Amino acid sequence: MTFDRRVKIAPSILSADFADFGREIRAIEDQGGDWVHVDVMDGHFVPNLTFGPPAVKAFRRHVTTVMDVHLMIAPVDPYIDAYAEAGADILTAHVEAGPHTHRTLQAIRAAGMKAGVALNPGTPAEAVEHLLDLADLVCVMTVNPGFGGQSFLDLTGKIRRLREMIGDRAVHIEIDGGVDTRTAPLVVGAGADVLVAGSAVFRGGSVDNAHVYGENIRAIRAAAEG
Ligand code: DX5
Ligand code: ZN
Repeated sequence: MTFDRRVKIAPSILSADFADFGREIRAIEDQGGDWVHVDVMDGHFVPNLTFGPPAVKAFRRHVTTVMDVHLMIAPVDPYIDAYAEAGADILTAHVEAGPHTHRTLQAIRAAGMKAGVALNPGTPAEAVEHLLDLADLVCVMTVNPGFGGQSFLDLTGKIRRLREMIGDRAVHIEIDGGVDTRTAPLVVGAGADVLVAGSAVFRGGSVDNAHVYGENIRAIRAAAEG
């Protein structure tokens, strides 16, 4: 993975057909998705439950781009090696998931992955200020994590602040929640480069009608770059 700040669209398979992940992943990649965003939820840190390491390992066989794994679980540390083994390229943990995010990010890198740190909407940018040298990505949640299809919370001030704090470090700013053609330009204008999108990519399409995914991805990218 080489670092750049071009806009990257990361479709979230939370909005895919859960009985057909392999074809869904291949479809979003064929249709121009840059990364594959994988939402892991534990029914404890967030009020929803998705899948764990064995499923993520099975997804890996279908991913040819970047597997971006977003952990909405607590605790994180006991599972880091399992997600490395599952083939995550980027492993993102929430700063709210425990008291020792610094140690968690070190452990993620030590396991051979890029380390991401995510912030809930109510958490200030300053919560990650002293973690930026240990992070490859900061994920700004623009909805409360747990579900796809929620409305975008305008946190552009926080994104701008993070962009300033990051300076010339090779740290991505990823936005997760409610990204669509209306909100993408706002967050990219504030300094984001990775746009997670679930409902806005999968809306109206299916694996048998995957060109709709492509149209949705191209529309978000055009809005973001425009
Ligand atoms: C929410 C997840 C998101 C979700 C985004 O907890 O982290 O990745 O899939 O879905 P949309 O794009 O529909 O808001
Ligand atoms: Zn996510």
